[in-house]
Amino acid sequence: MWNADIPSANKDLNLYGSHPFYMDVRSGPMNGTTHGVLLLNSNGMDVEYTGDRITYKVIGGIIDLYIFGGPTPVKVMDQYTKLIGRPASMPYWSFGFHQCRYGYKNVSELEYVVDNYAKAKIPLDVMWTDIDYMDAYKDFTLDPINFPLDKMQQFVNNLHNNGQRYVPIVDPGISTNSSYDTFSRGIKDDIFIKNHNGSEYLGSVWPGPVYFPDFINPAAQDYWTDEIKRFQDDLKFDGLWIDMNEAANFITSQPLENSTLDDPPYKINDGGGRQPILSRTIPGSALHYGNVTEYNVHNLFGHLEARATHEALVNVTNKRPFVLSRSTFVGSGKYAAHWTGDNAARWDDLAYSIPSMLNSGLFGLPMVGADICGFMDNTNEELCRRWIQVGAFYPFARNHANKGSTYHELYVWDSVAESARKVLGLRYRLLPYLYTLMYESHLTGTPIARPLFFSFPEDVETYGISSQFLLGNGVLVSPVLQAGAESVTAYFPKGNWFDIFNYTNSVTASTGANVTLSAPADHINVHIREGNILAMQGEAITTRAARNTSFNLLVVMSNNSASTGEVFMDNGVELHIAGAIGTWTLVKFQAELGSSNVTITSNVTHGGYAKSQNYVIDKITILGLTKGVKSPSSIVRHGSRTVNFNDMEIKASSDNEGVFVVSEITNLKLSMWNNFKLELKVE
Ligand code: NOJ
Repeated sequence: MWNADIPSANKDLNLYGSHPFYMDVRSGPMNGTTHGVLLLNSNGMDVEYTGDRITYKVIGGIIDLYIFGGPTPVKVMDQYTKLIGRPASMPYWSFGFHQCRYGYKNVSELEYVVDNYAKAKIPLDVMWTDIDYMDAYKDFTLDPINFPLDKMQQFVNNLHNNGQRYVPIVDPGISTNSSYDTFSRGIKDDIFIKNHNGSEYLGSVWPGPVYFPDFINPAAQDYWTDEIKRFQDDLKFDGLWIDMNEAANFITSQPLENSTLDDPPYKINDGGGRQPILSRTIPGSALHYGNVTEYNVHNLFGHLEARATHEALVNVTNKRPFVLSRSTFVGSGKYAAHWTGDNAARWDDLAYSIPSMLNSGLFGLPMVGADICGFMDNTNEELCRRWIQVGAFYPFARNHANKGSTYHELYVWDSVAESARKVLGLRYRLLPYLYTLMYESHLTGTPIARPLFFSFPEDVETYGISSQFLLGNGVLVSPVLQAGAESVTAYFPKGNWFDIFNYTNSVTASTGANVTLSAPADHINVHIREGNILAMQGEAITTRAARNTSFNLLVVMSNNSASTGEVFMDNGVELHIAGAIGTWTLVKFQAELGSSNVTITSNVTHGGYAKSQNYVIDKITILGLTKGVKSPSSIVRHGSRTVNFNDMEIKASSDNEGVFVVSEITNLKLSMWNNFKLELKVE
């Protein structure tokens, strides 16, 4: 573990971040007993796992070993994130779809892309710019020719008027160009990382020669906040993307003579070799504030930059920050979202995106995604189509491409566009659910996207699965990850599962079972399990528009237990999530099956916010019953009143297998801010 700027497309090499944490799920007499282990140490290390033991070879620091007793995966995450920091709350808009590319040429091209999304009726919430927008790759500047301030301001204003957002990139290396104010202020504040002799350490990144801010220095926070504020005063960006923060360096400095910091006697595996540990980064002998050596804190660079950037955004915008970081360490989830870096447009990389995303969740960084359609190399229509089908269900869904690769925005191919409308359509309907999962994650550390063993730790078959994942407890995504495939063999843990696109295809697994499902070109299999209740909203092309549609409740009944679900609502940008009363509402739902009836109840905490927004449920869909629900004997108690639901319409239809009935109750107008109890006869 030694943070490195090595594209994630390369297997079996060090990653951008370090998380000396693992979760151990045991099979045996007590299947599913889980614990976690953290070696809280920021030094370089080799970790060897040989099946029955794990060996840490750490080249410094202290042994600070934590064991989290679990005994379930959910409890381990609670215990782990209680120690390292709960995942940051994320703005509502960040759950929309994001478009980025390294190599957008100018503002007109940005406008062209945004327009084409609108024309193709594909959701787009956030437009990004990579380093192209900068003047000679200098942070907090704009290229005066291609991305001039007035045009950029207008572009960002237009986005905002359309309910869309803008996120630019910022790199840590500050150009040493003597006429660059950000550089001069950094020198004045004396916040750059030093050589052992006290001069500034000179690296080289996109702008050429750079100094690196020392985020350990308390003065660097004020410096960083001030730079971000100056930039924000000019351009109202909505979040920041911090890249190259391993820290990446395009040069490898010579090790100091006899320095065990630059060239330690035990050589950890760095970049696949055993070499001095200063390859393409800041050398170990460089000094931080208080004479702390880079050797000891190298793995913290991205983490500390994420913290500083988060704090700066809190300060400057007074809104919930959105920071996307490439390099992370234990606890970075408290400050940032994460993308998995430079993958390639290959089927393998699509498949690896799932375990990468799931790992990030276990590391307390649940807001995560991989570059959709693949960053390096040229993607193709089929791969890009399958990728958006998976990427639509990443917690963080962003399409990104490398400079020079062919364009792969979702409208480029008709079949990709069509599939994107379908899967992003579902994503946008699921936004209240994703957002509530984020809220739960922020409170308890349970990831948004989870491995199957999280919900089914007693089922040993789930332990090795990394080609499927769950959103929350009960939404199972089973994608096609191979070229040419038109079906997928997916594992279904015990229970009744329903196709979430059409409700009528179901899978019944009396014990866990592998099931081969049809997966034609435009389709990804997504199922919801019995026992879950999802609050959903309508389809739209921005999160803002989606938030203004009425709610639908999807209730999946179970014979064995009550079904449950909850929804958290606020304005999506409030700094302190679930803070002042009146700014948020939480509603818990429960559904129970009696001998001849179904009872659905809601339990509201602080209805004020939902009332201020006039949030109503206008439709309830009930799955999982073998008979339909009927209206006549239904009673609805709404608050203290019994409401006349004459308008309510009920229809029931049988599913494809002829086993289950899909019941739909429409025209409901149930307000979200009052408790309700709905009893329906089942016949
Ligand atoms: C490396 C990042 O991983 C990539 O996403 C970005 O496009 C390039 N740097 C250029 O900024």
